Amino acid sequence: MKVIGFVGSPRMAGNTATLVSQALAGAKASGASVEQVHIPSLEITGCKGCKYCKSHETCRIDDDMQSIYAKIREADVLIFGTPVYFAQMTGQMKQFVDRLYALIDAEYKPKVAPGKKSAVILTQGDDNVAAFTGIVDTFNFAMSFLQISVSDPIIAGGLDAPKDVEKNVSAMDGAYQLGKKLASS
Ligand SMILES: Cc1cc2nc3c(=O)[nH]c(=O)nc-3n(C[C@H](O)[C@H](O)[C@H](O)COP(=O)(O)O)c2cc1C
Repeated sequence: MKVIGFVGSPRMAGNTATLVSQALAGAKASGASVEQVHIPSLEITGCKGCKYCKSHETCRIDDDMQSIYAKIREADVLIFGTPVYFAQMTGQMKQFVDRLYALIDAEYKPKVAPGKKSAVILTQGDDNVAAFTGIVDTFNFAMSFLQISVSDPIIAGGLDAPKDVEKNVSAMDGAYQLGKKLASS
């Protein structure tokens, strides 16, 4: 069982990375091998819409997505963590999500093996955890094309400083339990 946690915040040790780490710790406790990938540290350019990937195995852009594609193919569980930036996922995370297009064939069928699972971890300043659930819908929409199942998200609000989320016991425990559950079934 391989679990990858993608972090879309430029803050390497911020709230999002903290919750993704919690989920990965839970997955590890279930016996999974885990890896955290910090998206803003990688060279991932935007999709060019060339559709090369619809007639070839992979994307024509030779950047860090090539190694990410290989990791996704091998993974059983994908966890996507992003802070809310102006009511959206971060720009770095969106570039990454757009590039998942290369994992779908010309008939919009997945090029990855079936049976993978996923979940979203969202962090935000707003106390209202229902305010930006459209971001979760966007991830889940992408997962539906890849035929990857989705679990309920972890959404933590009221966050500003990088480690604020450590005071949110329910989000910290929820993320841990999410990782544990995703890696155990
Ligand atoms: C550029 C920017 C835009 C933000 N926009 C929003 C927003 O629209 N809504 C919100 O609730 N929080 C917003 N926030 C707050 C962050 O989502 C929040 O502090 C988050 O926990 C940061 O995560 P991190 O510590 O992983 O970087 C914004 C923060 C930044 C830096």
